[in-house]
Amino acid sequence: TGLDALIKSKGKKYVGFATDQGYFSSSDTVNILKAEGGSVTAENSMKWDATEPSRGGFNWNGADALANFATQNGKQIRGHTLLWHAQLPQWVKNINDKATLTTVIQNHAAAVAGRYKGKVYAWDVANEVVGDGGGMRSDSIFTTVFRDWTFLDVAFRAAKAADPGAKLCLNDYNIDFSGAKLNTFVQVVKDLKSRGVPIDCVGTQTHTGIGSNNIANFGNVLNTLASTGTEVQITELDIAAPSTSITSAQLTQQRADYKSVVSACMRTSACTGITLWGVSDRATWITGRRPLLWDENFAKKPAYQGFVDGI
Ligand code: XIL
Repeated sequence: TGLDALIKSKGKKYVGFATDQGYFSSSDTVNILKAEGGSVTAENSMKWDATEPSRGGFNWNGADALANFATQNGKQIRGHTLLWHAQLPQWVKNINDKATLTTVIQNHAAAVAGRYKGKVYAWDVANEVVGDGGGMRSDSIFTTVFRDWTFLDVAFRAAKAADPGAKLCLNDYNIDFSGAKLNTFVQVVKDLKSRGVPIDCVGTQTHTGIGSNNIANFGNVLNTLASTGTEVQITELDIAAPSTSITSAQLTQQRADYKSVVSACMRTSACTGITLWGVSDRATWITGRRPLLWDENFAKKPAYQGFVDGI
């Protein structure tokens, strides 16, 4: 029973959910995580601002809680994320020389990936590094200090040294449709591989909207991502309504959209797992736009059946 068991019965590795300590007091949420999921992603607790708020000063409270929940309940962990321009403490943003930033990335990856060594199925080593126009993201300390992609080499090599068994992923958004950003993303991964940098997987966040045109083309996108020769994971799936009112027609469309996304993964052998960015519409980062499979009262929505139909 449950989505995870169902997808595993069809040869995939997991269905997962983003969660964190704050949700563990909700028995409705916990029951769903246990029954329907095989993996958890730390929604916020493994990010840089949470784990290393001051240089060399680590806080493991939330990250340990997430890891312990996974261990106690037999769930895989997707680590999220070692390097990201957002939710990054000011002390990192203040660094303006490459040598210091290199050491800081190495120490951060060593500490965080090292602490959960052997427990993490896949790490989002780096998140959202490509700009929406297809260049390097301009508002990231990592790109402005390095001026090339080699900060990724530093991060992936450090993660590999810290946890050799974890799959190491590059994760991004707005690569769930064709265009310059997807092309650059694929090229960055191919270049990493050609430089001998350890990378095992790519993640498409896939925050999308009900009725989005992109969903029809999603199978092609997954094939393009698979052309990197790495595992492909859908890492942060949610499908939001355009506004805080949602019609029954939109709920029906949302069901069809979930089916389309999931079935595209099922058709793509490189696509190994799907993570939903939350459990219920009661608690989602897209407040009020009902993007998930369970409603505010933890009842299964038509979207849940769409997910099942896709498997
Ligand atoms: C979001 C969380 O869901 C929120 O709770 C937080 O306030 C902001 O970050 N892309 C990512 C995730 O990679 O880490 C983001 O998570 C959503 C967008």
